[in-house]
Amino acid sequence: MCKKKISLFYIVSLISVSLIVTNSYQIYAVDSGQESTEDQCIICHTEIDYMPDDFQEYDIHSSEGLSCTGCHGGDSSATEEEDAMSAANGFVGSPDKKDIPKLCGRCHSNIEFMRVFQPRIATDQVTQYYTSTHGEKLLKGDDKVAVCTNCHSTHAILPATDPRSTIYPLNVPKTCRKCHSNAVYMKGRNIPTNQYEIYSRSVHGEALLKHRDIGAPACNDCHGNHGATPPGITSVTHLCGSCHVNNLEFFRKTLMARAFEELDFHGCEQCHGYHSVQRAEIDFVGVGQSSFCLKCHDEGDAGYEAAGKMRSHLADLVSLYDSTNAQMLKVRIKGMNDIDIGYLLQDAKQSIILSRTMVHTFDPIQVHAQTRQGIEHLEKALDLAEAEIDEYYYRRIGFVYSSIAFVILGLGIFLKIRTNKKQ
Ligand code: HEC
Ligand code: HEC
Ligand code: HEC
Ligand code: HEC
Ligand code: HEC
Ligand code: HEC
Ligand code: HEC
Ligand code: HEC
Ligand code: HEC
Repeated sequence: MCKKKISLFYIVSLISVSLIVTNSYQIYAVDSGQESTEDQCIICHTEIDYMPDDFQEYDIHSSEGLSCTGCHGGDSSATEEEDAMSAANGFVGSPDKKDIPKLCGRCHSNIEFMRVFQPRIATDQVTQYYTSTHGEKLLKGDDKVAVCTNCHSTHAILPATDPRSTIYPLNVPKTCRKCHSNAVYMKGRNIPTNQYEIYSRSVHGEALLKHRDIGAPACNDCHGNHGATPPGITSVTHLCGSCHVNNLEFFRKTLMARAFEELDFHGCEQCHGYHSVQRAEIDFVGVGQSSFCLKCHDEGDAGYEAAGKMRSHLADLVSLYDSTNAQMLKVRIKGMNDIDIGYLLQDAKQSIILSRTMVHTFDPIQVHAQTRQGIEHLEKALDLAEAEIDEYYYRRIGFVYSSIAFVILGLGIFLKIRTNKKQ
């Protein structure tokens, strides 16, 4: 009884899904020749060697069976050029650049249609696009900006998850660079062409491009996929904070953050930059040459003083860590037990990491509380190391004494035997 109900339900759902699918095809791929598996557009174009240069069979529209007509219109079942590509059959030919967003949007802005293929696909690309600098300028007649096909390719389109895709995270910087690093292409515009160059030498660029760490931000993680605009002043800080959560949490609560807002300073970017972010060093805080703090603070003010103190707390911890590590190596070389020392060193390393993030409280007292914990671990580790090394020498001296005792004993026995023999 129950089983019957379920199978009836399945049949009904199947019928409705197929109805939706066929309906959608009727709207978007009329005469696409779904019934005949032979796509005359491809057959003839292959024959006359006029397939588009960038065409790949893996193109998602081709592999989803959408045919060339999905974008170009026309009749893919007609074998004659005149019929296949006639205006009467809706043929649009090669569209103008300014019309491309609308062309892609015919399907991609239609949620009912797209849902059939992928239940969760977004359908806001075109609206988003027109909020970007690219979209705004396209509307004003600037035809050098990026449209859909500049970022996605035209006939080799793939989802971002496919490593061959132009929008696969590791490939995005190259996709943007085609225009943004081309000084000739960008000529006459009030915009630098060094973003890729600077980015590729940053800690993020190296992580992504060299170490293939897709957790590091590519251009689109900061600029958005379709709303590519320079992020605003406050949104940059949130953007960095979306990955570096604790740094943002600490910084947000400081008096300095409030002062930054009033002065229109750019949060994280003010100290770290944006395309050029470098790996952090403890010398970035303090009163030395590479300190960030001296850009705004002078000897005598609260910031200068705080900077000096935080630097010295961090330096104390780091240098004690290094010397404790050296002691652990000595223990290890002597073959003594270094396991607990290793654990304490790990705890201290964690304190170093936390203290460096804690710098964003810009409060020497909080930083000190954290470095103090690390130092306590290290002091314990040093005590253990000392005990192990003492133990080693103790055993060695013991070994020497017992060796001497054995020799004396042996010598005694030898002499005894000799005198016995002589007797
Ligand atoms: C029998 C051969 C033949 C068939 C079938 C055919 N084409 Fe073409 N197509 C051509 C030739 C030849 C040209 C180049 C000359 C011209 O522009 O008319 C061309 C040009 C084009 C162009 C470039 C037009 C431009 O404005 O630059 C597009 C796009 C195109 N075809 C798409 C299609 C599509 C889509 C189909 C299927 C609906 C199709 N073709 C079917 C032969 C064919
Ligand atoms: C996703 C939409 C889309 C699909 C699907 C598509 N095209 Fe195109 N095609 C375009 C656009 C847009 C242009 C305009 C030029 C450009 O942006 O590269 C174009 C240009 C062309 C051109 C002329 C320019 C050139 O590269 O020589 C030909 C020929 C062509 N397409 C043939 C085809 C054929 C054949 C198919 C089916 C295998 C096909 N297209 C499928 C969007 C599409
Ligand atoms: C005839 C309708 C149609 C047109 C026109 C069309 N697409 Fe698509 N597109 C689809 C469908 C259907 C899919 C497959 C969705 C799926 O299976 O994930 C798709 C998939 C994609 C994907 C991969 C999405 C993902 O992440 O899964 C991209 C990117 C894409 N299209 C870009 C474009 C661009 C750019 C244009 C215009 C040049 C365009 N499409 C024109 C129907 C269309
Ligand atoms: C400046 C480059 C750029 C332009 C222009 C662009 N896209 Fe995209 N698009 C991307 C990137 C990057 C992604 C996704 C990367 C990811 O998800 O990691 C994406 C994702 C997509 C997807 C997958 C679904 C989604 O929203 O994530 C579709 C569909 C798509 N784009 C269609 C379009 C259409 C249609 C246009 C034109 C209106 C367009 N794109 C213009 C770069 C671009
Ligand atoms: C087809 C070439 C092309 C491609 C590809 C391209 N752009 Fe652009 N982009 C432009 C042009 C042209 C402008 C307008 C510059 C101007 O006149 O200020 C622009 C503007 C921008 C701006 C606004 C700059 C400003 O200060 O006004 C940002 C941000 C941007 N692009 C990011 C990207 C990102 C990120 C990508 C890759 C996902 C990308 N672009 C891909 C051509 C391109
Ligand atoms: C970590 C975030 C981040 C990454 C990654 C990133 N950008 Fe930016 N980008 C920014 C910020 C923030 C600004 C705006 C700075 C301002 O206006 O104060 C900006 C500005 C720009 C501009 C405007 C002109 C300029 O140089 O200031 C362009 C164009 C641009 N970025 C392109 C790119 C490209 C291309 C990539 C990838 C190679 C990229 N960005 C990677 C954050 C990022
Ligand atoms: C998409 C996530 C993401 C975004 C957005 C992001 N980062 Fe990063 N960031 C990372 C990852 C991942 C690393 C680690 C790279 C490594 O260690 O190889 C990193 C490394 C860093 C480092 C070096 C850390 C160290 O151990 O020395 C700094 C500093 C940094 N980011 C600052 C920023 C700033 C400032 C912004 C905003 C302009 C930002 N990040 C935006 C993911 C992100
Ligand atoms: C871009 C400028 C700028 C940089 C760089 C900068 N500060 Fe500040 N800082 C300010 C401003 C503005 C104030 C608020 C006005 C004031 O108290 O001098 C402030 C205030 C402070 C305060 C006092 C907060 C309070 O409780 O009154 C401390 C502490 C401080 N900064 C530490 C630092 C340290 C440490 C560094 C380096 C890691 C640093 N600052 C880098 C601009 C900066
Ligand atoms: C006033 C200057 C200043 C501001 C503002 C600032 N930082 Fe830092 N940041 C530093 C200094 C100094 C260091 C070096 C501390 C160290 O590594 O010992 C550092 C180190 C880092 C590190 C590496 C250490 C760690 O925590 O892993 C990251 C990541 C980082 N900052 C991210 C951010 C983010 C995200 C923001 C914005 C929410 C931000 N910073 C705002 C000065 C600043």
